[in-house]
Amino acid sequence: MRLICTVNGTQQQVDDVWEGESLLYVLRERMGLPGSKNACEQGECGSCTVLLDGLPVCACLVAAGQAEARQVETVEGMADGGALDPVQQAFLDAGAVQCGFCTPGLLVSTRDLLQRSGRPSDAETREALAGNLCRCTGYEKILDAVRLAADRLAQSGTGGHR
Ligand code: FES
Ligand code: FES
Repeated sequence: MRLICTVNGTQQQVDDVWEGESLLYVLRERMGLPGSKNACEQGECGSCTVLLDGLPVCACLVAAGQAEARQVETVEGMADGGALDPVQQAFLDAGAVQCGFCTPGLLVSTRDLLQRSGRPSDAETREALAGNLCRCTGYEKILDAVRLAADRLAQSGTGGHR
């Protein structure tokens, strides 16, 4: 089947997609966007998190056909040219990136959280990121990064509510 959807603001067309293929597979293997990571393929780890029409989903659980005519945002769409998104910069500055495998999903989930509630409590952050597993950091650095990103976005006036 043919799939047409918009990924990071650009319309993409992919032919010969098998009906059983996941959105994650199509992004990584057919569209050349390997940022979303493939770890469990069972919706357990969150490393494949993308936004589908603005809502976070595990791309490994979304059939590619479900993305037809919809908007997909991946971690590749976060940086603006050479400039990192403030959430990406905060993860780096807070030391929240170790092996990095969980990082793309955490970045997408954190950006979504901070767009919904500019200054989340730690409890809200833990709830929002509960589906993103990290085997390296112990999560404290991730919480530091979310707080740092929230502070910077608030100071720049670009955090906030949607
Ligand atoms: S690879 Fe999708 S949730 Fe783990
Ligand atoms: S940094 Fe390694 S899994 Fe999170």
